[in-house]
Amino acid sequence: MIILGIETSCDETSAAVVRNGTEVLCNIIASTKDVFAQSGGVVPEDAARRQVELILPVLHSAITDAGLSYADIDAIAITKGPGLMGSLLVGVMAARTLSLVHNIPLIGVHHTLGHLSSIWLEHSEEPTFPCLTLSVSGGHSDLWLRSSHTDGKLIGKTKDDAAGEAFDKGAAMLGLPYPGGPSIAKAAESGDASAFNFPIALSKEKTCDFSFSGLKNSLRLAIQKHDGDLEKLRPNLAASYQEAICAQLCHRVSHALTLYPDVKEVHTVGGVSANSRLREMLQGNISPCALRTPKTIPYCTDNAAMIASAGYFIQLEKPKEAYEAFITSTSTSL
Ligand code: KG4
Ligand code: ZN
Repeated sequence: MIILGIETSCDETSAAVVRNGTEVLCNIIASTKDVFAQSGGVVPEDAARRQVELILPVLHSAITDAGLSYADIDAIAITKGPGLMGSLLVGVMAARTLSLVHNIPLIGVHHTLGHLSSIWLEHSEEPTFPCLTLSVSGGHSDLWLRSSHTDGKLIGKTKDDAAGEAFDKGAAMLGLPYPGGPSIAKAAESGDASAFNFPIALSKEKTCDFSFSGLKNSLRLAIQKHDGDLEKLRPNLAASYQEAICAQLCHRVSHALTLYPDVKEVHTVGGVSANSRLREMLQGNISPCALRTPKTIPYCTDNAAMIASAGYFIQLEKPKEAYEAFITSTSTSL
C-alpha cells in the first residue's frame, strides 16, 4: 500500500511517499527554522504564511521524486493535530483538496502517533510489544507503554515545559540560536558537564512524569550569578544543562522499566531523540533492553514519512476508525 504523508503542524512543510509503512520512497522536508533562528522560537503567523508558500512545491517534489502520479497513491495521511492551528490548516486543506480531486481516501494522524511511528521507517525488524517509548520534542515529553503500533497507555508526561522547549528556552538564555537542542549540543561539545550541578527534578519521587521549569530557573540564576562571564562559561553551562535534561529523561525511563518488567525494547523518538548524549545515556541505563532510535536524524524531527507510516498502521489495526471524518485535534489520546 502506497501512502502520501503530509505534515505541516509547525515550521516544517513536509510530504513523503511510503510503501507499507516502512519503505520510504521519498521524504521532502522544507524547514523554515532558519527564519526563526534569531527570534528564539517560532512565530505562529509567520510559520503559517511559509506553509502556504511551500505546500504546493513540496507536494510536487514528493510525487515526482517518488516517480509516481496521484493515480498510484492508495491513501493520504495528514497530521490532524496537535500543532499550530494556522500551520495545520494549510496541510489539512491541501490534503482534503487532493483527496476530493483524485478520489483518494484520507487518514487523519495524531502528530504524536506520527513520532511514535518514525521508529518503523527503514527498519525491517519486527517490534517486540509491549515496548516503552520516550517521545520528546518541542511540543511534548511523553512516556508511552505501547501494546501495538497504534495503541498505548500514556504513563508519564511533563508537568510544565517539554524537553525540547527546555532546550530552546535554555539556548535563548545562553544567547544561542533556535532550535536550541542542536545549538546546546554543539556548545556542550567543548564544555564540562560536571561544572555546574543543575537539579534533576522529581528524582526522589516514584513518578514517570517530567518537569523542566526548575532546571530552567537554575540556568537563569547561574547566568545572572556569573554575569559578564557568559562567553567563557557558555560551553560548561550548555554541557551541564544538557546533562541535567538527559539525566532526568533517563531516570524516568529507568523507573518505568522497574514498573513494567515485561518490556523488552525501549524507543526514543521526537526532535530531542536526535541528541547523542541522550542516546548514549539511555543505552547505558536500560540494559538488558534494546534501544531503538529513528534510522536517520531527519526522522527524529518533524517529517511526513512518519505520518505516512502511522497512517498505514492505523488502517491496518483500526480499519473502522481510519477513514472517519476528522477535525484538527488538540486531544492527547492517539
Ligand atoms: O519533533 P520536533 O521536530 O518538533 C515538535 O514536534 O516539537 O522537535 C523539535 C525540538 C526542538 O525543541 C529542538 O530544539 C529539539 O527538538 N531538538 C533537539 C535536537 N535536535 C532537535 N534537542 C536536543 N538535541 C538535538 N540534537
Ligand atoms: Zn513533532
